[in-house]
Amino acid sequence: MKKIIITIDGPAASGKEKIAKFISKKWKLNHLDSGILYRRLALNFLTNDVDIDNVYQIKKKLNTINNISFRNSLRIRTQKISKLASKIAVYDCVRSFVNKLQHNYVKKNKKKQGFVIDGRDIGSVVFKNADLKLYIEVNPEIRAKRRYKQLIDSGEKSIYPKILKEIKLRDRLDKIRKHSPLIVPKGAYIIDNSGTFKNTIGQIAKLLRKI
Ligand code: C5P
Repeated sequence: MKKIIITIDGPAASGKEKIAKFISKKWKLNHLDSGILYRRLALNFLTNDVDIDNVYQIKKKLNTINNISFRNSLRIRTQKISKLASKIAVYDCVRSFVNKLQHNYVKKNKKKQGFVIDGRDIGSVVFKNADLKLYIEVNPEIRAKRRYKQLIDSGEKSIYPKILKEIKLRDRLDKIRKHSPLIVPKGAYIIDNSGTFKNTIGQIAKLLRKI
């Protein structure tokens, strides 16, 4: 039986992960968060003193990595790793490495009836022929407010203007890069996630019934 693929793209802190988790649970699909892979590589480069401004060092390191965990962890959720992940994501060699991991994951994972994959280039580059493509939209101020609240609720120190500045910087890095910039993928449905989660899910449920 053909496995279905749903892609979710959108800027930082737009709620892709929460939406993907919801879809994965309700429709029994494997969830793959491609951001984790960029974050894991960023952590690997950081701990191994790889100069991330030197593409030759990056290529050399990539050649030595056989596998990367797809699991989330608090260690890769820091602001430092977020920024580093955006920086290394500009390199074509890093993107090819991560894309290959994603295709292998889909090839090997046969347990469920399909996949929901979120990131920045999933519908535009990695899985261009997906069955359903979503693009999540929320303005930077709302995204920064939500991220700020999340950090405060989890007991972390946080400053709203700093979060907003970082979100805008990551947006810029994602949108202006040469390789796989963040765009609305061809054929994607734009989902407005600035209201309640119920409203967002309502928009998506209608689309899911079609596939
Ligand atoms: O989604 P998340 O914030 O965890 O991703 C971390 C960083 O990895 C992003 O800021 C983005 O620059 C990069 N990324 C990417 N393409 C993806 C997923 C993440 O460029 N498909």
